[in-house]
Amino acid sequence: MIRLSNKKILLCITGGIAAYKTPELTRIFKKNGADVRIIMTQSAKEFVAPLSLQAVSGNQIHYSLLDEEAELGMGHIELAKWADVILIAPCTAESISRLAQGRANDLMSAVILASDADLFIAPAMNVKMWNDKVTQKNVKTLSLKNINFIGPDSGEQACGDIGDGRMSQPDDIAMTIAKSFSSSFLQGKKILITAGPTQEAIDPVRYLSNNSSGKMGYALAEAAYLAGANVQLVSGPVSIKKFDGVNLYKVKTADEMLKIIKTLINDDDIDIFIGCAAVADFKPVDYKNSKIKKTDDTEISILLTKNPDILKYAADNMTDKIVIGFSAETDNIIENAKLKLKSKKLDMIICNDVSNSEIGFDSDDNEVYLITNDTEQLLAKTSKIKIAKKILQNIQPLIN
Ligand SMILES: Cc1cc2nc3c(=O)[nH]c(=O)nc-3n(C[C@H](O)[C@H](O)[C@H](O)COP(=O)(O)O)c2cc1C
Repeated sequence: MIRLSNKKILLCITGGIAAYKTPELTRIFKKNGADVRIIMTQSAKEFVAPLSLQAVSGNQIHYSLLDEEAELGMGHIELAKWADVILIAPCTAESISRLAQGRANDLMSAVILASDADLFIAPAMNVKMWNDKVTQKNVKTLSLKNINFIGPDSGEQACGDIGDGRMSQPDDIAMTIAKSFSSSFLQGKKILITAGPTQEAIDPVRYLSNNSSGKMGYALAEAAYLAGANVQLVSGPVSIKKFDGVNLYKVKTADEMLKIIKTLINDDDIDIFIGCAAVADFKPVDYKNSKIKKTDDTEISILLTKNPDILKYAADNMTDKIVIGFSAETDNIIENAKLKLKSKKLDMIICNDVSNSEIGFDSDDNEVYLITNDTEQLLAKTSKIKIAKKILQNIQPLIN
């Protein structure tokens, strides 16, 4: 039983014999509740009738990048944004090569370059084409970009050869796509996430704080919960709602945050810690019990002292677990993040440039670098929930 209700699947069909299976694949998606839109390459039209696919999908077929009519309505960028998932089935050796080169010379490749949606490729080709060194290099290039391959299967081919290269069966492809929506790769894992700013009181009405909105940490909590994790979210003061199912602990100060973190780390057997909160580095040495009065003095001094380092506490006390930190920087962001990764002995640091207002503290989008001791990867600008999902997918290989 597969569930695809309301999922938006963009099916791209390229010019291989296995294209004859795509009306059946489309029918399976539709039967299970998905909305299917179809792009065909020019060659694909030689292998399967667009009219059949239009009838089965219930939607007009898209072919051309330079189509004035399409650009008025569902142009390539809109198709790219519309899709929850993009599937290329069958995918030829030629299309794999174009994608590996980052080409955008037809509708399919332009949409894929412009989309954040998860991409699945179901290759279909002759065994020698599949095993060719260049094809295999292209497949590796695409796999390193987190593109998912379904198949190919092995067996007798249309040309009579035997070996790897047959497109996976439509039922199996549909099942893989369905599973990607109900991914539970964090099932059984306990994740502790910090979010938002802290507020360090000066007197009963004033405090030191920062511009953190909490959106990134809350998006991570939502994505982790949807991936099956048990999620504890410790949050400074923010004005956003937590996702149902996430356990929320509200705090104001760094000291309060550390107290809850200590309890959760020591008593709750946390597997993964993600420090996303913008914890104030300093707090006033003295809290004034009464409001500081305005006087004729033009200057006043507030002596500050360092706050506890919550991320370091987690790293020092979770040595056999996964500890990930965020680094919000305005200058030399990668160098500073690498120093933090090493000095705090983290498993990963996620850094972003908060001087850019389009991806900074209060924005809905983010663009981050994921840095480990061996790797450095840019997650290009997109919504914070999509960034959160991609971060968790990248944490997956660190989990035992
Ligand atoms: C009869 C026939 C069958 C073909 N089958 C395949 C195939 O299964 N896999 C493949 O990679 N190429 C196959 N090709 C070659 C592609 O159609 C060709 O490389 C084309 O340029 C692919 O363009 P596209 O990837 O833009 O659709 C076949 C060609 C012909 C004439």
